[in-house]
Amino acid sequence: MAHLVFVEITALGVQSIAHAKRLGHEVTLLRSPLYDFVTPPAERARAEELADRTIHSDDLQDAGPLLGLLREHGIGPGDVHAVLSTLSLCVLSAARLAERIGARGTPYEAVAAARDKGRCREVLRETGVPSLGFAVVTTLPQALAAAADIGYPVVIKPVSGVGKAVTSIVEDADGLRAHFAAAAEELRAMQPGLAAELDERYIVEELAVGELYSVEVAADGERFTPLVAVGRKMGRDNPVLELGCTVPSGLPSAEEAELGAYAARVCEVLGLDLGIFHVEVMRTAKGFRLVEANPRISGGSLPDSVRMATDHNVFEILVDLFLGAPAPAHPLPWRRAASHTFLAAAQDAVVPQDLPADWFEEFRPRLHSGWVRAEPGAQLRAMNGNFDTFGMIRVVGEDADRAAEEVAAVRRDIEKRLGFALTAVAESRGTLPAADQARGDG
Ligand SMILES: Nc1ncnc2c1ncn2[C@@H]1O[C@H](COP(=O)(O)OP(=O)(O)OP(=O)(O)O)[C@@H](O)[C@H]1O
Ligand SMILES: [Mg+2]
Repeated sequence: MAHLVFVEITALGVQSIAHAKRLGHEVTLLRSPLYDFVTPPAERARAEELADRTIHSDDLQDAGPLLGLLREHGIGPGDVHAVLSTLSLCVLSAARLAERIGARGTPYEAVAAARDKGRCREVLRETGVPSLGFAVVTTLPQALAAAADIGYPVVIKPVSGVGKAVTSIVEDADGLRAHFAAAAEELRAMQPGLAAELDERYIVEELAVGELYSVEVAADGERFTPLVAVGRKMGRDNPVLELGCTVPSGLPSAEEAELGAYAARVCEVLGLDLGIFHVEVMRTAKGFRLVEANPRISGGSLPDSVRMATDHNVFEILVDLFLGAPAPAHPLPWRRAASHTFLAAAQDAVVPQDLPADWFEEFRPRLHSGWVRAEPGAQLRAMNGNFDTFGMIRVVGEDADRAAEEVAAVRRDIEKRLGFALTAVAESRGTLPAADQARGDG
């Protein structure tokens, strides 16, 4: 029997604790109210119920006090087999703790390099992996100089940002000025657990134009396997916003293999050699280009869509990897398609008072699965990032395009029923220039 320490948990990540318990292992869960905003109460309760013990602390970032807490519960460094986290805000802490106690974990240096978007691009440059132009800045004048050098449009985002915090695509110098002007207010309104991640550094990046994909890469210390590639739905009016995924990716198999190899190579050069990593990649006219290498498994609803499409549970694979199992040798074959879309308000909105409390139920027969948190009268915030969604809808079927179309149709009907605009999904597929569409033939 092994002892696994989880630093926080995500809603779907509870499946990893459940798997570890089914296998008969001991699980300690470290939790902090700072991250309550990420995981609904029912899932948190379920995680605590499954774990052998939950240790609460206001600070999960400092390894010293965490070691002390473990000791108070009779857990010494030698007792712990592995430390992991499914939550982006806690992966660095999990890696640090693993290193401090000599347990299995994702290497701290690698997590730190990936979490620092500037350092990450430096590593790609040093190792010859195709990447995007970038500069790390702390002030508006530096950002203006960097953007002039890179060429507009550019993306500006916090070096260690998550969840689309303070991220803008800007067309010109005024856009950068507006970004810095709005940033102060956004930082003030931010959840403390998220704000703690950020410092004064921003990365200014070349804008990658094309279709967005993500790849879950599994690594066991030696082998890097792209487990699954998925197509990402971006916001129509603000492509920074993430609105769901479709599995499988819809790419021709040769290109999907190229995408998988690229994402695996990114993890390899960063040294992310134990765990599952969520690598976001744009398919541009020049080829695949990294958007972000997340040193943790996918969040959101994607792991469940992958399970529905492949009959494999990535959280189980994650736990197995930390227990010492080899990474799967090949990508997970898919058996059907799954497409999910997040529901979010385009502008601040109120759910009509006269809707029945169970208004969402009329849409269920057309869905495989989904949820909403939008009771009649509820105030909804305009979508600004991942944490502003109020629901998710999913269709599972034989064909990826059809599943995506069906879920889009339900989204439109929900929008009509609610009577206000939902954040619209870009019709992004097939938008590359025709010459490039034939790239694979060259
Ligand atoms: N250089 C870029 N070119 C084009 N689009 C980009 C670029 N950088 C970021 N984006 C867009 O902005 C989104 C957010 O960027 P990024 O993934 O780096 O931030 P994040 O806040 O870490 O996101 P999350 O934590 O939700 O994955 C991306 O999903 C992508 O749509
Ligand atoms: Mg991202």
